[in-house]
Amino acid sequence: MPDTMKTKTVLITGATGYIGRRLTHRLLETSALNVRVLVRNKNKVQVSIVDLVEITEGSTFDKKSLAAAVAGVDTAFYLIHSMGVADDYRNLDRVSAENFRDACIHAGVRRIIYLGGLGVKESASEHLLSRIETGEILSAKPGQIETIWLRAGVIIGSGSSSFEIIRNLCQKLPAMITPRWVRSHTQPIGVGDVLSYLQTSIDLSHKGNLVVDIGCEELSFQQMMQQAAEVMALKRYLFPVPVLPPRLSSYWLILFTPIPYKLASALVEGLKSETVLQNDNAALLYPAIRPLLFKQTVAAAMAELEHNQVLSRWCDSSNQQACDIKDFDNPAGAVFRDVRIISFEKGEHQEDVFQSACAVGGPNGWFKYNLLWRIRGIIDKLMGGYGLNRGRRLNQELRIGDALDFWKVADIKPGKRLLLYAQMKLPGQAWLEFDVQSDQLVQTAHFLPRGVLGRLYWYLVMPLHHFVFNDLARTVVSSSKKSDR
Ligand SMILES: NC(=O)c1ccc[n+]([C@@H]2O[C@H](COP(=O)([O-])OP(=O)(O)OC[C@H]3O[C@@H](n4cnc5c(N)ncnc54)[C@H](OP(=O)(O)O)[C@@H]3O)[C@@H](O)[C@H]2O)c1
Repeated sequence: MPDTMKTKTVLITGATGYIGRRLTHRLLETSALNVRVLVRNKNKVQVSIVDLVEITEGSTFDKKSLAAAVAGVDTAFYLIHSMGVADDYRNLDRVSAENFRDACIHAGVRRIIYLGGLGVKESASEHLLSRIETGEILSAKPGQIETIWLRAGVIIGSGSSSFEIIRNLCQKLPAMITPRWVRSHTQPIGVGDVLSYLQTSIDLSHKGNLVVDIGCEELSFQQMMQQAAEVMALKRYLFPVPVLPPRLSSYWLILFTPIPYKLASALVEGLKSETVLQNDNAALLYPAIRPLLFKQTVAAAMAELEHNQVLSRWCDSSNQQACDIKDFDNPAGAVFRDVRIISFEKGEHQEDVFQSACAVGGPNGWFKYNLLWRIRGIIDKLMGGYGLNRGRRLNQELRIGDALDFWKVADIKPGKRLLLYAQMKLPGQAWLEFDVQSDQLVQTAHFLPRGVLGRLYWYLVMPLHHFVFNDLARTVVSSSKKSDR
């Protein structure tokens, strides 16, 4: 779109998260709006859109960066939450929302659009309460700024946490015993429809604050499982049991799905109570949007997976110390290093070797000692980590911030460097670096131990590292030659 045709500026916060990434792409593809994004690490912005958006780096906790982000903005999307960052995330969420609202008022922003959760305060989980408080804070000064507060329950789309749970359970388990909470009713919604509501809200002619509940037909989690299995052409048997402690349900989820314990228990808590639409503003004020039925949303998500078109995933945002912090891509402080150097013909294979390094993990596996990597993944899962279940977003492409099994991509220098930060449960911090030079691959595992336990851990796993890292470096180079041939 030529600059002269661009109209007002919209700000998208959370633009490196599940919804924000997709909204950014939607607005770039279908509108003439000038899109600005507020991100905590500008390297996480998809390379293909870097020249199409205005990027401001900062955080809602940094008032100076916030002021710069909202200056000259007409409409500001609030797609942020702090769950997983710290135990007092509700407090963080309150401060974040207050800072954002006040910055918007100060800059003369016309409208805030916020996406929160569906449900009522009386039966809300801790996470939902925080989402409700955020909505209340954003809408607390109607005389100074108007807020459209969309409320969605289970969001179904490729890579969404709810869809990944349903898909994994359906695909992995022919029969399941199901606790009582799977019979609570909710109204799921496809991610494409969520984006339509968000986009339409920009120009919705409505004065003052508005709360809009969005969702498709009313279903229980059990019905969602059964319908999803039908879409996948699978026959699944669910056996209800009167009691199954929520904690056990969460362990069940972490064992068979990529979701970590904290997220699994928040989802189980959320599904324990009914989350159905409390108003019909969506039908009244957004008549052009006809939400897809649940089965259609599952089919759309499956199609995106099959065609390698997953734009964002539930694990894109960084509630751990990865990718949020500037200069995080430098493991210089590490104490221990395992370095493997493999030579290849000068100049010939540099790009191929880099591509080969970028292909590790997920369904592509970790070469000869895949079994050891898998065992490490299971140990990690049992300790409450991600394990290997997150796989990778796309088989051929990596971008900064992508989850890759139990790693997170912390840096990519095309053709030269891939740096992975370990998100497995460890007594310290670890990185895996592939530095591709013109005639050699330098692969380094960096480790910064925490206390004596950390040091003990490093020495204990050293013999395993010898085999695993040696094989990894050799195979990255040799498989690049094979693909070249
Ligand atoms: N996804 C769902 O299934 C779902 C369902 C219902 C409602 N919602 C609502 O939709 C909204 C967006 O959720 P989501 O799933 O897209 O979240 P998400 O994937 O976890 O992404 C959160 C985003 O917020 C950014 N962020 C966090 N704290 C920040 C701060 N202080 N300053 C600036 N950026 C910050 C993160 O940046 P980094 O990349 O740097 O971490 C990330 O881009 C939330 O309000 C959520 O309640 C989501």
